[in-house]
Amino acid sequence: MVSHVSYVDLIVDHIGQLCVIPAYQGGPQRGERFGDLGVINDAAVAVRSGRIVAAGRHDLIRGEYAALNVIDAENRLVTPGLVDAHTHLIWSGDRASEFELRLMGATYQEIAAAGGGINRTVRETRAASLADLFEGAEARLNVALRHGTTTLECKTGYGLNQETEIAMLSAIALLDSEHPVDVVPTFLGAHDIPPEYADNPDAYVDLLVDHILPAVAVWKSKHWDKPLYCDAFCEQGVFTVAQTRRIFEKALLCGLRLRLHADEFVSLGGVRLAVEMNAASVDHLLVTTPEDARLLGASNTAAVLLPATPFGLGIANTAPAKLLYESGAIIALGSDCNPGTAWCENMQMSLALACRSLKLTPAQALAAATINSAFALDRGDLVGSLEPGKRADLVIWDVPDYRHLAYRFGTNLAHTVIKDGQVVYPPTT
Ligand code: NIG
Ligand code: FE
Repeated sequence: MVSHVSYVDLIVDHIGQLCVIPAYQGGPQRGERFGDLGVINDAAVAVRSGRIVAAGRHDLIRGEYAALNVIDAENRLVTPGLVDAHTHLIWSGDRASEFELRLMGATYQEIAAAGGGINRTVRETRAASLADLFEGAEARLNVALRHGTTTLECKTGYGLNQETEIAMLSAIALLDSEHPVDVVPTFLGAHDIPPEYADNPDAYVDLLVDHILPAVAVWKSKHWDKPLYCDAFCEQGVFTVAQTRRIFEKALLCGLRLRLHADEFVSLGGVRLAVEMNAASVDHLLVTTPEDARLLGASNTAAVLLPATPFGLGIANTAPAKLLYESGAIIALGSDCNPGTAWCENMQMSLALACRSLKLTPAQALAAATINSAFALDRGDLVGSLEPGKRADLVIWDVPDYRHLAYRFGTNLAHTVIKDGQVVYPPTT
């Protein structure tokens, strides 16, 4: 009877509802395919060497596979681990006082112009030791993990000089190697104009292009063999489209892939630049024009939407998600976790907000936060779905049905998080 079974390391059994969230023809879900969760009821998943071997109906999986280690999901929902496509997880200090000032009427831009904002965090980050920076980011990464995130993008951008930017890259690479969550690094030296260049922003662009980007390329050649990204904050009062183009041209020469902060407050044309330069993603898009949304829809540049940011700022702007969807854009989700606009490590919050403010369906929001975020990070062949061969990164949720992930909010719905086939939450020791 058991002679034909294959032995695996782990079976997650008695899954009430399994969402496989398949890639579409080897790529992200877009257009009418967006939100295809590949639901299987009464399911099980077989795992060997940290990878998915099979996912399917319980009776089929149990007829074909056996394992010493069986986790009983007790009829709960199981999905791929969440993929957070945009964070600024590493920083020092906080900006609670700015939150209060905004509630008293000041705007994000006014606070920044008065020396607060990103440059306040830059001062605190430059003054921190590498160990303190690492520990702060590690603590936040632990929070993300216990809320179901298993892959997360993390930007530099609070150093804005060669020394601290490279130190941040090193801390991010260390987090990736030491922590169960896969951390994807992005160099964001163009996050703001540092105070020492306030009177001459072009000289800071020169510094980035002539010195810091080449140093990042050297760092990458020694310490990072996967894609490394270059991002910029293309925004009124920060970097112009022309400055961003100079930075991006050098970044491509240095072997980096591109992503861009665009249209968070003012639409300058960053979307067109990102599409033209084949960026992996363009992020925020709160004030994107219909024309630019259609351009994105016809491109392979993902639209990373960050609904926690306007919520965190208490502003009403929302990305044109419906038009992006109708135009066929690759819609992905990120938390934007950062100390200024959105200190929230929990991607469940982004799912809840994506449905309410962006009007995504629960299925679309979940596909955006898994398979499409994985493709936005060039990891769609490895994570984001529970297809055979992919990393066994999955979450057992304490709910019966995927809609609950967005329907309910404000409490942690994750029951068990499995990364590379190992239970990483709750801690087993
Ligand atoms: O994505 N927009 C630029 N960067 C962040 C804010 C960072 C900060 O305020 O510290 C964002 O919202
Ligand atoms: Fe951001």
